[in-house]
Amino acid sequence: MKKVFIKTFGCQMNIRDSEFMMGHLLESGFRAAKSIQNADIILFNSCSVRKHAEDRLFGNIADLRKLKAKKRDLVIGLIGCTAQSHKQKALENAPLIDFVCGPGNEADIPSLINAVLLGRCAIIATDKVDEKRPELFPKYRAEKFKAHVSIGEGCNNFCSYCIVPYVRGKERSRDAKDIIREARDLAERGFKEITLLGQNVNSYKGCSFAKLLEKINKIDGIERIRFMTSHPKDATPELFKAIRDLDKVCEHLHLPLQSGSDRILKLMNRRYTAKKYLKLAEIYKKLVPEGSITTDFIVGFPGETKRDFQDTLDLMKKIRFDSAFTFKYSPRPPARSARFKDSVKKEEKEDRLKALLELQSKISLERNKPAEGKILEVLVDGVNKKDAVMLTGRTRTNKVVVFEGDKRLVGKLVNVRIEYAAPYVLKGRKI
Ligand code: SAH
Ligand code: SF4
Ligand code: F3S
Repeated sequence: MKKVFIKTFGCQMNIRDSEFMMGHLLESGFRAAKSIQNADIILFNSCSVRKHAEDRLFGNIADLRKLKAKKRDLVIGLIGCTAQSHKQKALENAPLIDFVCGPGNEADIPSLINAVLLGRCAIIATDKVDEKRPELFPKYRAEKFKAHVSIGEGCNNFCSYCIVPYVRGKERSRDAKDIIREARDLAERGFKEITLLGQNVNSYKGCSFAKLLEKINKIDGIERIRFMTSHPKDATPELFKAIRDLDKVCEHLHLPLQSGSDRILKLMNRRYTAKKYLKLAEIYKKLVPEGSITTDFIVGFPGETKRDFQDTLDLMKKIRFDSAFTFKYSPRPPARSARFKDSVKKEEKEDRLKALLELQSKISLERNKPAEGKILEVLVDGVNKKDAVMLTGRTRTNKVVVFEGDKRLVGKLVNVRIEYAAPYVLKGRKI
């Protein structure tokens, strides 16, 4: 039996897809390899959202030259978003690749691998990008107590910088009954936390998204429900009320802002203004006062002036996010902004990123400090990498907590008294 290793880049969607593929492969008679070195088949589930992600990917593939020379039968597949975006070009760039398979064609992977093993010829399968996935997913899960559940695929928003709509296709929502069936099955198997995934969960079409949360909230056994990502143009007070009222839905909202300048938001095609976002954040904070709010920023978008960037800093100070992911703008053809002049110099982008991180770190610390002395519920994720007697977990507000404990607590909900708050971590003691 051939052994498969999947190396995953990119977002939660890709993590879920890797699981989906591993499930299919196991059901088709393949086995999971423990490492790249002892695999017969290596799949790279790729991300194209920034150039840097692609460069790392092709670097990783090139590193396999020696292994491939030693193992003549080794099959290397490029799957996911970069596969869809590069298609034929990927084979020219990276001759070690045996097949290229886009996100829509992933259910075909077992047969693609078999075709490569039989014919040893390069294959490209990227034609099903707009198709609906099979509604029932394989049962395989990489983890035992928390799981991602896809509620839909694709995106229709076409933010001008973003490649996702081109590689993931048109938005398709999964039927609510299939989502609920999957969540019930996970609950029966002992899963405690589920995260609902979509590029824009608030535009879910099966029923209203708040209604979907309500239905999942009723499932016995599930203790925590998370979701991502929300788009500010579609997030509503109805959603915030669902966070407030549904006991299992965690008090955390990830709401990407991208920029605080109306001019840049318009160029980004985000379809909201800084004022509208601020209002939305205020409504959320009023309805869910103990809740956290996190965001994404892009610095150095084409034409972003010092003034525009200052608007971003000013809005950050007003909203006071718990944390933020910050990115340097990267042109991604065929996304529309790749045709705009990438006018902000590299050093300037770096300086802006640094200023953003500094401010965010200060605000994160201020947002975390009130947790000192409080007792918070933590779902234990695992053992701290640096120090084996320490465990790590997450609060309902999605903050990382480190505390001393037995590794048998992994997967359990425990109460931790927070003793010390830093910008990116809370330290405490189990009670
Ligand atoms: N659907 C989600 C995820 C998009 S990708 C959403 O709308 O939030 C995650 C983040 O990557 C985005 O929020 C954005 O901040 C960043 N990003 C996307 N394209 C980018 C680009 N071309 N350059 C830099 N950052 C980018
Ligand atoms: Fe990209 Fe915008 Fe869609 Fe998010 S909402 S995936 S940023 S196009
Ligand atoms: Fe996700 Fe990257 Fe694709 S962010 S959707 S894996 S381009």
